[in-house]
Amino acid sequence: MSLSERVAIVTGGAAGIGATYSAAMVEAGATVCIGDIADGEELAAELTEKGPGTAVHIGADVGDEAAVKSLVDSVVGAYGRIDILVNNAALFATLPPVRYDQIDTGLWERVLRVNLTGTFLLCKHVGPHMAARGHGRIVNIGSGTSMKGHPGMAHYVASKGAITALTRTLARELGEHGVSVNTLSPGFTLSDTLVAGNPTLVGAAKGPSIATRSLHRDMYPRDLVGALLFLVSDDSAFVTGQTLLVDGGQLNT
Ligand SMILES: NC(=O)c1ccc[n+]([C@@H]2O[C@H](COP(=O)([O-])OP(=O)(O)OC[C@H]3O[C@@H](n4cnc5c(N)ncnc54)[C@H](O)[C@@H]3O)[C@@H](O)[C@H]2O)c1
Repeated sequence: MSLSERVAIVTGGAAGIGATYSAAMVEAGATVCIGDIADGEELAAELTEKGPGTAVHIGADVGDEAAVKSLVDSVVGAYGRIDILVNNAALFATLPPVRYDQIDTGLWERVLRVNLTGTFLLCKHVGPHMAARGHGRIVNIGSGTSMKGHPGMAHYVASKGAITALTRTLARELGEHGVSVNTLSPGFTLSDTLVAGNPTLVGAAKGPSIATRSLHRDMYPRDLVGALLFLVSDDSAFVTGQTLLVDGGQLNT
């Protein structure tokens, strides 16, 4: 699957699963602009060295509209186009499980701000560029947890459920301009950031996840690559407003 000459923004593409998305898209030939608060300079240089595509890191907080606008302006200024947007940035790996009635309201709002408003802001500022060119692929990263709930993660699960709803509406609005909008929903994935940053959640969710999957094994970021490349490429040209769940057959849609 070739993404040569495609220009992409991958938010949260500097670490965790997002770094795997960035690498896979560069490997498919894309120019990948990594928008992340984490430092992605080294990763971008490493991916560009390997090629055949290239990567560049542009520091941006997706919850800050001015920063999002500046990210989008600099990508359009440098490359003249945006073909692909992957909204992957989220507060997740660092969130310890907390019972719903113990969640600090400020934290609740911060999770919604980054995970949901951040996705909205990228769509708001990238969508018109794609629409003007009559082509674009937007992939919003959801989560299987929004289909079944997950104790201790009410803020996070609520944000991911809203991503699916937002995706369906944007697919309706952008379809007439040739832009597809889909949700890619991972199951419980052992990203390096999650394993390093959230041993409590990993300890609680790893065993039950394996047991309840049709494919009884751990899930890794590489398990998402095929679905991501499908959704960002022209192979999925007539697919929009959908949720693609990649979880080893834990839930059936
Ligand atoms: N790991 C899992 O089990 C799992 C399951 C379902 C869905 N997901 C989703 O997949 C995505 C990646 O998950 P992960 O495990 O790599 O988590 P992660 O928390 O390590 O990754 C999030 C990335 O977003 C970046 N980020 C955080 N806040 C940001 C901000 N304000 N602006 C810009 N970038 C910001 C982080 O620096 C990081 O690179 C997330 O959307 C997550 O919700 C993960």
